[in-house]
Amino acid sequence: PDPRPTDLVVFGGTGDLSMRKLLPSLYLLDRDGHLVGDTRVIAVSRDGLTDADLRDKASSAVRGHSAVQVVEPEVLRRFRGRLSHVTVDVGGDPSGWEDLAAALTPGRDRVFYLAVPPMISGAICRGLRDAGLVTPDSRVVMEKPLGRDLASAQAVNDEVGAVFDEAHTYRIDHYLGKETVQNLLVLRFANVFLEPLWSSRWIDHVQITAAETVGVGGRRGYYDSSGAMRDMVQNHLLQLLCLTAMEPPASYDRDAVRDEKLKVLQSLRPISGSAVAEHTVRGQYTRGTVHGDEALGYLDEAGGPPTSGTETFVALRAEVANWRWAGVPFYLRTGKRMSHARSEIVIRFRDVPHTIFPGAATAPGAGSLVIRLQPDEGIHLTMLTKTPGAGALRLRPVPLELSFADTFATRSPEAYERLLMDVLAGDSTLFMRRDEVEAAWRWVDPIIEAWNGLGTAPETYPAGSSGPAGAQRLISRTGRMWHEEEQT
Ligand code: BG6
Repeated sequence: PDPRPTDLVVFGGTGDLSMRKLLPSLYLLDRDGHLVGDTRVIAVSRDGLTDADLRDKASSAVRGHSAVQVVEPEVLRRFRGRLSHVTVDVGGDPSGWEDLAAALTPGRDRVFYLAVPPMISGAICRGLRDAGLVTPDSRVVMEKPLGRDLASAQAVNDEVGAVFDEAHTYRIDHYLGKETVQNLLVLRFANVFLEPLWSSRWIDHVQITAAETVGVGGRRGYYDSSGAMRDMVQNHLLQLLCLTAMEPPASYDRDAVRDEKLKVLQSLRPISGSAVAEHTVRGQYTRGTVHGDEALGYLDEAGGPPTSGTETFVALRAEVANWRWAGVPFYLRTGKRMSHARSEIVIRFRDVPHTIFPGAATAPGAGSLVIRLQPDEGIHLTMLTKTPGAGALRLRPVPLELSFADTFATRSPEAYERLLMDVLAGDSTLFMRRDEVEAAWRWVDPIIEAWNGLGTAPETYPAGSSGPAGAQRLISRTGRMWHEEEQT
């Protein structure tokens, strides 16, 4: 469907997410002609801002955003004109709802974006309904965290679901808005050569890594009650695993795609009891140096308790127990304050069943497909090649490189641009359905419970390193290596 002029109402509209991501992305959409007609953005908060205050805050947010580069005064003026602010005290003085009602245009599409902590999502939805603001076509957008376990996810889904039906509910996992993540589907399902190789028959294992150099920064309060498992694995990493492992959907239709992702989540072999110690590793960073700069340890970061068992690193070995993947380990790994920022999916192919070059010297790393999400978005396929020369036969893994930046002269849009555009157009293919989110929690919960039951602390690793020693043992136990080690 084509987007129509819309009233986009952002709860938490003056908060961190709104300033860092949503408003700059909306500006870019406006610049590129994707905000149709007089689409408006109504920021809702308790802050009592005037429209002028909000517009100024938004202008600085736009100017400070790396993807914007040059601010076009004409576009900024138009964009500012779309913005207004309404003060609503959810659960407090009801007059705010009347002000919001007055700010909305009758008969228009409405999108309610909940950029707020999940515990107030239900109250906002009820407030909207009681004020008569929810029209049959209204959409709601939910941000993570979508619960902190299955029970709380179900509770928030029930509360929001009492007001908005599933077809109008958009749950964001911003990794699905990344260009390379969407490209994974194209790579797998628009090309013929990968599919015959895409199974346990020819794939030895898969590595999915999201390593960050940043620490928890000013978010220690939130992070301490979350940890890397809830913050990254339950959502982003499992979504990447789904897209890697899913069966070909019948069409690029929201339910066809999401049905296949759901089946992957339901096929994950549970990790519980004693398997937890064998298949999972937790880490927490201590003081160290990242790219030459000194970095605090997690426990020294402000805003949280001086002792904490919260993990800032997770590595685990998952298995998709179905015909295609039985026996293929999927290693998932994420951490803060690592030596390099790198997010990638590595498909490691098996060795040939029989080599006719038995004496040839080879290096490891042959036969892998790497899908690099960030930085340097691209795809590279390493294959063994004969090193030129008349002497003894030597084989060397050589990559075929596809760099998005070099190949396409256009800029890759920010994940939030794509997702906001889809919400405005009413396309929920790149959003998570309720059953997906809940299936992910169903798999994650027993792992976290087992960790809590173990009563042990996460292993420490110095900031700027490649994570705790346990991560090494996790993979070397089966005679394998992390991809970056094969490269060195
Ligand atoms: C967020 C997490 O969902 O994703 C953050 O809450 C993390 O902790 C971020 O830093 C990573 O996103 P990106 O797009 O920078 O890889």
